[in-house]
Amino acid sequence: MQQVYPLLEQAQMIVLASPVYYHSFTGQLQCAINRIYALDKPKNLKKAALILSSGSDNVYGGAIYEYQNSFLDYLKLEDMGTFTAFGKQNKSPEKLEELRQFGLHLK
Ligand SMILES: Cc1cc2nc3c(=O)[nH]c(=O)nc-3n(C[C@H](O)[C@H](O)[C@H](O)COP(=O)(O)O)c2cc1C
Repeated sequence: MQQVYPLLEQAQMIVLASPVYYHSFTGQLQCAINRIYALDKPKNLKKAALILSSGSDNVYGGAIYEYQNSFLDYLKLEDMGTFTAFGKQNKSPEKLEELRQFGLHLK
């Protein structure tokens, strides 16, 4: 977190990316989110986006709830969208290209 805090101070956008573990973010990402609560809202931060991969489809409710409530609502951020991939999509070149296009629109 000591490396993340200065980056959060400068950042205008944060992109959360995680595999789905037990219906939500990984423990590592959840710990980092929890530590953000200890800060005042990072002053330059205005936007957020979410990237999730999973084994199965339609398992994103827990992560999206966290994202919407911990980030968008609590930190008052603009939602730049959510990208998901499951199962074999995680290794597919087409899905990778979709992800690149998703990344390009995050400005
Ligand atoms: C500890 C653990 C928990 C997981 N929990 C879920 C889950 O609740 N739902 C799901 O669809 N996939 C789950 N997965 C699968 C991962 O989300 C998936 O492996 C990851 O997105 C990476 O995809 P890949 O294995 O094809 O590289 C879990 C994987 C691990 C290791």
